[in-house]
Amino acid sequence: MTQSTDTLETKPFPQDKSGKMSKVISASQKTVICYLRILSLTRVNRIYDSDRDGKSKKINHLVTHHAIHKVRNMSKIRIGIIGSGGTGARHADRFSEIEAAEVVAISSRNPETGTALAETHHAEFISDWQVLVQRENLDGVVICTHNDTHAEISIAALRCDKHVFTEYPLARSIDAGEAVVEVSQSSGRVLRINHSETGSNSHQAIKQKAQGLGDLLLTTFLRLTPGRGVRPEILLNLPVSGPPAHFFIYHIYPIIDLFGGVRLVEGAAVYEGLTDQGNYNRFVNTVNVEFKNGGVGNWVWAGGIEIQESEQHARYVLTGGTISDSGGKWHCSTGAGAEEIPPVDGPSISLQEQWIQEIRNQETSAAHRDAVTALEAIRVSLSAEQSMQENRRIVLK
Ligand SMILES: NC(=O)c1ccc[n+]([C@@H]2O[C@H](COP(=O)([O-])OP(=O)(O)OC[C@H]3O[C@@H](n4cnc5c(N)ncnc54)[C@H](OP(=O)(O)O)[C@@H]3O)[C@@H](O)[C@H]2O)c1
Repeated sequence: MTQSTDTLETKPFPQDKSGKMSKVISASQKTVICYLRILSLTRVNRIYDSDRDGKSKKINHLVTHHAIHKVRNMSKIRIGIIGSGGTGARHADRFSEIEAAEVVAISSRNPETGTALAETHHAEFISDWQVLVQRENLDGVVICTHNDTHAEISIAALRCDKHVFTEYPLARSIDAGEAVVEVSQSSGRVLRINHSETGSNSHQAIKQKAQGLGDLLLTTFLRLTPGRGVRPEILLNLPVSGPPAHFFIYHIYPIIDLFGGVRLVEGAAVYEGLTDQGNYNRFVNTVNVEFKNGGVGNWVWAGGIEIQESEQHARYVLTGGTISDSGGKWHCSTGAGAEEIPPVDGPSISLQEQWIQEIRNQETSAAHRDAVTALEAIRVSLSAEQSMQENRRIVLK
């Protein structure tokens, strides 16, 4: 995904030479008197936002003292990051680069990496995340801890009136995922799960193409990897991270975004070297589904296997053509031939920037829609886990 240069900037209320507000009221006198009465309680604030072409556009807001206080405080969105591993450090770097954001606090159970990360970003170190989410000097919380903690921390932060940007997967159980989405909706805060896959211009192009190709027959995804890569040890731990289908949720999410939720799930897995603590060395995990809208889907992951180099491919078979990836490009193939699906034109903004903009604009609807997709995605991975445990197909509610 390309990084956008879009920026958000809050300019001070325009003043005349005497320092008084220069807002001209072109209304009836009665309205002016009324306006003057409420002037002690209100201010007009001009927020400069950037449109998708990078041009500055002005939006005038008449806001109350309470709201202006918020807007001033929100001239930079103050965020706290929880977790100081590889992902926490990457997010700290990304958010520090966003002009409208400021990394104010870092929390981690690991004091060594936590204090080092806080020092790098001139932020306060808070050992207990429950203390961090309650901090009044924060607008948003970024969650970069292990998979089994995302839901609990998200709910606590939302209940403390914080906006939340959490690493995927949304939750380690479907019930917990449903609770996060529910609390985010009732809180009116912006919940973003770090699923950046669907924001790319190539995903948007595939989506447009698929919409014109009739009914879905099959989606199939395969990923084979020789080693464990640079993944932290904890990912290959079943109780903490879930099965591969769950920590590879970013292969499921874009397919749910394209073709909707599923009604039936079946999973299977082989783990080599599985310990009582749930760690393992080599794995094969398959998931088969039936989509609610028709068609079947299949994912296969195999890791730590004997193969020279990694390979991965996806195929979406629709009644009017087959969409496939090869060599980093997407193609549509029919009986008449094959053509490339070029990415749609236009800038694409990072999910971190989008979250910050949504907080600034108090815009929750797109984030909520994506959170529902994230919930549908974990219904697949976690129902597959249940299917493996109970050795049966799972019919979703
Ligand atoms: N978006 C992406 O591209 C991407 C890539 C990789 C991973 N991820 C996701 O990001 C998350 C973190 O992965 P990672 O690679 O950064 O793992 P990591 O390097 O092990 O870091 C996790 C951090 O969270 C801390 N932590 C874990 N549980 C905690 C708890 N209950 N309370 C407080 N702190 C806690 C860990 O402390 P300790 O050091 O004491 O364990 C560590 O500081 C995972 O959910 C993973 O799926 C996303």
